[in-house]
Amino acid sequence: MGIKFQWVCLVLTVQALIVAGEFFKPFNVSYDGRAIIIDGKRRMLISGGIHYPRATPEMWSDLISKSKEGGVDVIETYVFWNGHEPVRGQYNFEGRYNIVKFVKQVGSSGLYLFLRIGPYVCAEWNFGGFPVWLRDIPGIEFRTDNIPFKEEMQRFVKKIVALMREESLFSWQGGPIIMLQIENEYGNIESSYGPKGKAYMRWAAKMAVGLDAGVPWVMCKQTDAPEYIIDTCNRYYCDGFKPNSKKKPIVWTEHWDGWYTNWGDRVPHRPTEDIAFAVARFFQRGGSFQNYYMYFGGTNFGRTAGGPNIITSYDYDAPIDEYGLLRQPKWGHLKDLHAAIKLCEPALVAVNSPHYIKLGPQQEAHVYSYNGSKCSAFLANIDEHNSATVKFRNQAYILPPWSVSILPDCRTTAFNTAKIGVQTSIKTTGLDVASYSNDPAPLKLMAPYEVDYISKTWKFLREPIGAWSDSNFTYQGILEHLNVTKDHSDYLWYSTRIYISDEDISYWEENQASPVLTIDSMRDFVCIFVNGQFKGSAKGKWIKVVEPVDLIQGHNDITLLSQTVGLQVIYLVLFFCG
Ligand SMILES: *[C@@H]1O[C@H](CO)[C@@H](O)[C@H](O)[C@H]1NC(C)=O
Ligand SMILES: *[C@@H]1O[C@H](CO)[C@@H](O)[C@H](O)[C@H]1NC(C)=O
Ligand SMILES: *[C@@H]1O[C@H](CO)[C@@H](O)[C@H](O)[C@H]1NC(C)=O
Ligand SMILES: *[C@@H]1O[C@H](CO)[C@@H](O)[C@H](O)[C@H]1NC(C)=O
Repeated sequence: MGIKFQWVCLVLTVQALIVAGEFFKPFNVSYDGRAIIIDGKRRMLISGGIHYPRATPEMWSDLISKSKEGGVDVIETYVFWNGHEPVRGQYNFEGRYNIVKFVKQVGSSGLYLFLRIGPYVCAEWNFGGFPVWLRDIPGIEFRTDNIPFKEEMQRFVKKIVALMREESLFSWQGGPIIMLQIENEYGNIESSYGPKGKAYMRWAAKMAVGLDAGVPWVMCKQTDAPEYIIDTCNRYYCDGFKPNSKKKPIVWTEHWDGWYTNWGDRVPHRPTEDIAFAVARFFQRGGSFQNYYMYFGGTNFGRTAGGPNIITSYDYDAPIDEYGLLRQPKWGHLKDLHAAIKLCEPALVAVNSPHYIKLGPQQEAHVYSYNGSKCSAFLANIDEHNSATVKFRNQAYILPPWSVSILPDCRTTAFNTAKIGVQTSIKTTGLDVASYSNDPAPLKLMAPYEVDYISKTWKFLREPIGAWSDSNFTYQGILEHLNVTKDHSDYLWYSTRIYISDEDISYWEENQASPVLTIDSMRDFVCIFVNGQFKGSAKGKWIKVVEPVDLIQGHNDITLLSQTVGLQVIYLVLFFCG
């Protein structure tokens, strides 16, 4: 009897917990001119970007826990409309697009979530996240004051907010979501839409806030954002950034800690010291929320890479690499940086604006002192080439070039952004961060997930050249690539047959000319075949292609394979010249 009674009690307790919020005790989020305010307290927040469809669900929990271990408080992600609504009205929230599962994993790890709905997200993602069917809606014009577009956008944003609310994922429901974003870098292009641009931006802001999500909304790179939306910074450096009102905190939505890779280009690398410098300078000069874009970049699976040139890997040179392994020394150095910033958090949130002290021609201190004796300080040397010895509170400090020293007690240097691996030794899963070197991350130490889903045998198929499928059809003229493929394929074959007479041949011989195939304007890639033989290819954006071809007397088959490289529209215009 006794045992049975205990069991009943346990069940009741669990149920009560769920009612009170699945992950946190419900809390409100607001902000003032200094910081995001979580449950009544100003916070200095470190956020890490992870796009859920750029990893597999099997990887998510590992990535989130590695982020947490690295000192990240918030996970940031975009929402990918074309993944969630591949066909209008038919939603997909499964597998890599199981956003609810992802958000819940973030919550259950004790981290917050920053959801950037867009729904135009850019993100080096196919069509910037727009579903291709959006193009076929009569009268539609994207991202402007256009009724069909606004209706579709509102429908999707509403759907996502409702889904998050149904699943109790907002902070005031005990969920992890503390902040939302509407649109994305619209300020870059607003003026090109004339007055309709501004009207659309204001509509988007009002529509978003009208959804009553109960957490703050941001618009990035939107200097004219309305008073109830935080305008934020996306750049390599955001120290010195000021939002458009003193009532808004300084928020850095995209700190580009690396970059994406284009076909044929070198793999970008941003030095760890410089990233740490940028973060420290941001908090030094009054910043309050910083998001690494990306903390984990991942992979553009399938055909999700955006056009015209993005490769499959979206590694981004991020602190966690494409395979989910810690990238050292980046991850470890930033972990130490976050720990140092956290030591300063009480002072940073207590002070509205720091005391500035010029220490030298290119050296400066920002001091956050409060309640008489408590104090944190940042000492910066922005000279790129020379170290400097500065005097601060009667003590000498040596500052390496282009570096910030963080003094949580205004005396002792806890961290300098240029000094990698000399910070306190921190044990991490299977990897001693103190043993930094310039070598790549020691892969053999980490095996976070099984790789048995990779096929062990390779197959290849030889495809017939030309329009051989059941869906071939005849058309006189040139088609718009995307209008035909509807983005179900990157490829569109064109075939035509031309007749070359004896007279054509002798005309060419007499004039010492030879036939040339000319494509007036094309993108992104074309392969040219004549009579079943590959003749050449061209790539580019709206380029003219001139290809000499051998034609024989009689019938000649001209076949072109038009290709997108990530989503953009292709126009092909053909002319034959004799
Ligand atoms: C959040 O704010 C709302 C509205 O002001 C209030 O009703 C609610 O009690 C607050 N919740 C918490 C957990 O503070
Ligand atoms: C400053 O000190 C007062 C009195 O000791 C205390 O009530 C207050 O919370 C302190 N302020 C901060 C920001 O710690
Ligand atoms: C489509 O391709 C088949 C060969 O697979 C061919 O017999 C047929 O004529 C083609 N149809 C058109 C409209 O080109
Ligand atoms: C797209 O295709 C439809 C028919 O399928 C045609 O009516 C329309 O003109 C095409 N649009 C463009 C831009 O080519």
